[in-house]
Amino acid sequence: MASPSAATVAAVTVLVFLVAGASGARLPGRGGAVRGPLPRGGAPATAVFALGSFWRSEAAFGCLPGVIRTSVGYAGGSKANPEYRNLADHAECVKVEYDPRLIHYKQLLEVFWKSHDPRDVFGQGPDVGNQYRSIIFTNGTIEARLAALTKEKEQAKDRSSVITTQIQPLGVFYPAEPEHQKFELKRKPFLLQLMGNLPEEELIASTLAAKLNAYAAELCPANTQKRISSKIDEIAKKGWPILREI
Ligand SMILES: *[C@@H]1O[C@H](CO)[C@@H](O)[C@H](O)[C@H]1NC(C)=O
Repeated sequence: MASPSAATVAAVTVLVFLVAGASGARLPGRGGAVRGPLPRGGAPATAVFALGSFWRSEAAFGCLPGVIRTSVGYAGGSKANPEYRNLADHAECVKVEYDPRLIHYKQLLEVFWKSHDPRDVFGQGPDVGNQYRSIIFTNGTIEARLAALTKEKEQAKDRSSVITTQIQPLGVFYPAEPEHQKFELKRKPFLLQLMGNLPEEELIASTLAAKLNAYAAELCPANTQKRISSKIDEIAKKGWPILREI
């Protein structure tokens, strides 16, 4: 079989320039991680939400400007070290790390509310069960107040059914197994290849991967979907040279 590595390396370089470059992410350094801009003089902030299947939840937040990285896991329950097949009383969650100077917690709450049906009583659509319940995990009184305020607003839109969303302080967040991270992106091997088939830990840390995960699920804004598609088409059309025989 021909080695795709030359083509992959060339494609990665171009994709990083075209897609990540436009969003301010840095080129991969010696370590190879494609990371976003970390706030100077301040740590990134973290928000955790449960809103149904975490495959989709992760994609719902991945394309927002100011989001540095996303990952999925389990929280809200009492069982230690939950696993996908045995998560007991935990809920499937997304952890969003973001630059608070670029995006406010309130904007994350807006995305939370519009990305699922908080009136769905025991899950989300076909995903039925306690693990798909709706939760805002808060850290401190400001977040708790904002969460309660937006929940009341959501409830006021229609009083004929109840908003089921729980608001609770974040306890332990247990990261999910690697195969659940960037799940939507992993369904598109071509996109993974364009990124240079990054190892799992770099995929989790990568701002570009978070964005492409959202793109793969078609959850970026329409104009962004279009822009990314045309950049990818451009790269694909160039037909990078592949060594076939030697
Ligand atoms: C909660 O907020 C404090 C500061 O407001 C921060 O230092 C801490 O890391 C936060 N915890 C989590 C889990 O995000």
